[in-house]
Amino acid sequence: MNAQTQRILEKLDRHEALVTGRGQVLGQIVFCEGCCCGQTGKGFPSLPRDWLKQQWKEEKLNRSVQLTISGCLGPCDLANVFCVISSEGLQWFGGLHEQWQYDLLLDWALASRDAGVLFELPAELNHHRFERFAVPLPCENGVDPV
Ligand code: FES
Repeated sequence: MNAQTQRILEKLDRHEALVTGRGQVLGQIVFCEGCCCGQTGKGFPSLPRDWLKQQWKEEKLNRSVQLTISGCLGPCDLANVFCVISSEGLQWFGGLHEQWQYDLLLDWALASRDAGVLFELPAELNHHRFERFAVPLPCENGVDPV
């Protein structure tokens, strides 16, 4: 067990709140590169993984908008998928297939970094949004469905 894990376990034993040193990040963008997203050999659009990593590194964007490239996020039927995580919650997008879409996301991340606030995602991507999880049915006559 490393020192970091030891420190966390000690805090948990003392019932202390966990605090991350990376809590100043505005948000996180997670691009899927799993079994479908980015898998050109299966006929899916490519994910500009190296370009994204290079841009984020050169611009030191991880300090404000953290970049993660993940395994399968789940909704493979909407490949290529990405999501944005922030204090506002989760936003999901699918069907990315062209470089200009990634260019827009880079511009968004740069602008958010420079302003110190996470801006709304580019409106040009609004039709790529989707609901990831089931939305509860509304109550009828104030009675929850059982
Ligand atoms: S591979 Fe991207 S959602 Fe499954």
